[in-house]
Amino acid sequence: MKQNNFSGCDILASSQFTCDDIETVIAKTREMKDLVTARGASDELHGKIMTALFYEPSSRTFGSFVAAMQRLGGGFIPLQGVVYSSVAKGETLEDTIRTFSNYSDIIVLRNPEVGAAERAAKVTGVPIINAGDGNHEHPTQSLLDFFTITDHFGSVNDKTITMVGDLLNGRTIHSLITLLSLYKPKRIQFVAPTELRIPSEYILSLKESGIEFVETDVLDDVLADTEVLYMTRVQKERFGDLAMYEKLKTKYILTHELMGKLSPKAIVMHPFPRVGEIALDVDNDARSLYLTEQMKNGMYVRMALLSLMLSE
Ligand code: NCD
Repeated sequence: MKQNNFSGCDILASSQFTCDDIETVIAKTREMKDLVTARGASDELHGKIMTALFYEPSSRTFGSFVAAMQRLGGGFIPLQGVVYSSVAKGETLEDTIRTFSNYSDIIVLRNPEVGAAERAAKVTGVPIINAGDGNHEHPTQSLLDFFTITDHFGSVNDKTITMVGDLLNGRTIHSLITLLSLYKPKRIQFVAPTELRIPSEYILSLKESGIEFVETDVLDDVLADTEVLYMTRVQKERFGDLAMYEKLKTKYILTHELMGKLSPKAIVMHPFPRVGEIALDVDNDARSLYLTEQMKNGMYVRMALLSLMLSE
């Protein structure tokens, strides 16, 4: 019998979650944080195996899923450099997924193609977790980002959240907006060059939810009101025109000086990797959570998801 909305199910996109689901993840994440703090690990998932199938580079998502599985006593099959696997011989995604469904209880998939996780889910009964499909979605990152804001402020409601950088291609942005649309943030402020503006479908979902938003290309203008500053890198790999990437890549750099314009109570987040958009001297600012809480939460949230999805 299903124990929760997650057990035996796939995680393909943030749009599948209800507020109840998000609350379930938050509660379970708190349990996992306490567990790691108190004991480091448990054997809850002893005997379970996770395949981590990554067709795109990854450090945090891959590493935190592996750490999460191991802290819960499970095993894993690491398929990170698919260049060393049969994929390099031309194997289809479907065949690879079918293969690893025979060996594992859950498959975490990152793939450059939009919709790859849905394709994978169609050919297997083993739960699939979308760990990023092209410039589309990254639902587990959005849960950890949502958890980080909630854990810090108690709620996302009434918060002014500013998202900066490549809003066109940043899948963490897309997934986070979808979650925020279920709640009542005060305002979302989008800061991007015209070429990298947020796709209209996300604007539409904010309008439907009655959430106030602004779009600008000037970061300075919106810093004073900001409570959550969410920086992102310009996604080089999504550009057909590299000259355009070169033109846009350093448009926004968060410096120590700019931090002076941000409220003392604000927080700074970034899914990482950064490629210059946050100056190193911002790292030691107490408001910077991207190398500390936000990253730790990535492991706790993934422990929570593995536990919920693999519970019988
Ligand atoms: C992000 C991703 O892969 O979408 N990284 C991550 O998972 N933490 C962000 C990025 O690559 O810029």
